[in-house]
Amino acid sequence: MDTTQEIVDNLVDNDRIYEQAVDILKSGGIVAFPTETVYGLGAIATDGQAVQRIFEAKGRPSDNPLIVHIGNQSDIEKYATDIPEIAEVLVKAFWPGPLTLIMEKKPGVIADVVTAGLSTVAIRMPDHPIALELLRKLDQPLAAPSANRSGKPSPTEADHVYHDLLGRVPLILDGGETGVGLESTILDITVTPPVILRPGGITKEQLEDLIGTVHMATLPTDQTSAPRAPGMKYTHYAPEAPLFVIGPNADTIAHALETIHRQNKRVAIIGPDELYTERADWYFSTGPINSREAMASSLYKAIRQCDNTKADIILAVETDLSGIGAAVMNRLDKASDGKRFME
Ligand code: TXA
Ligand code: MG
Repeated sequence: MDTTQEIVDNLVDNDRIYEQAVDILKSGGIVAFPTETVYGLGAIATDGQAVQRIFEAKGRPSDNPLIVHIGNQSDIEKYATDIPEIAEVLVKAFWPGPLTLIMEKKPGVIADVVTAGLSTVAIRMPDHPIALELLRKLDQPLAAPSANRSGKPSPTEADHVYHDLLGRVPLILDGGETGVGLESTILDITVTPPVILRPGGITKEQLEDLIGTVHMATLPTDQTSAPRAPGMKYTHYAPEAPLFVIGPNADTIAHALETIHRQNKRVAIIGPDELYTERADWYFSTGPINSREAMASSLYKAIRQCDNTKADIILAVETDLSGIGAAVMNRLDKASDGKRFME
């Protein structure tokens, strides 16, 4: 299969590109497109065979369900049932935006492969002009996971998608860099109080300001039990070299570099501008130390950059858990498999 990457901006014939995307999707194919969080790999969510192609292209386990993307707030009623009142408040405040809601699934509409046999469905309305235009032109819901090969970080640029899915997807809509950089917050509103299954672009603080207490799901320690967000049981975003989280302190980092270099190993650091050190073999900046948003938007790119080096070890500088910091540290926990650099 040939893969075309089409830049979608004001300078080119966008109508032709959208038409091409809609044609591919309506004939049961898959298309990669940008959202405000990360790039998605979409198929029409009511077409089970088309959705199956997503799992094949990604190499994704079929017991990990997908998020359904919609172009209008009111579409929620087409795909979910027993919608709790709180949904309306959340939708009004945060859609379009990086919040995925888990609700009871309306039977017989969304294909069963999308929800991996669950009785619930994950729905979100993305806040990105290209995603929204595509959804509206298509006038169908799109099942779309992140457009990476399974086990790689989610793509925040079209080139990341191209790298992972060359020959596996016919069309990539290139909308430049995504904004948020981490996947949407997943909120289970089938339970009271609601539970954050995956922290993301909409923070716990933002949710609680609006609807009161929400709980944060903890990772199941027993890997055989059914986790509430099925994707949580997979180690995600594992870079090629082992990744260790390290404290935001110049002395700690200097000491770590000395220790690792003494073992003749090379080190790539993912860290803020302020902690840059030329003693690292590679240093990938995640922006100003006080901007958790900057770290969120550049983290996955930095992990991919580390994969392009010959580093034996990656050190990633931690941030605190407030705001989107919770989502950043959740992803770093996964990438490091819980490892911290100890002196
Ligand atoms: O920002 C995002 O959410 C991106 C963009 C493309 O929209 N999508 C994304 O999809 O991150 P994906 O497939 O990489 O992650 C979807 C997560 C998985 O962890 C999956 O287990 C969970 O959503 N999920 C999907 N349906 C669910 C359900 N009914 N109940 C619980 N978790 C569900
Ligand atoms: Mg993903």
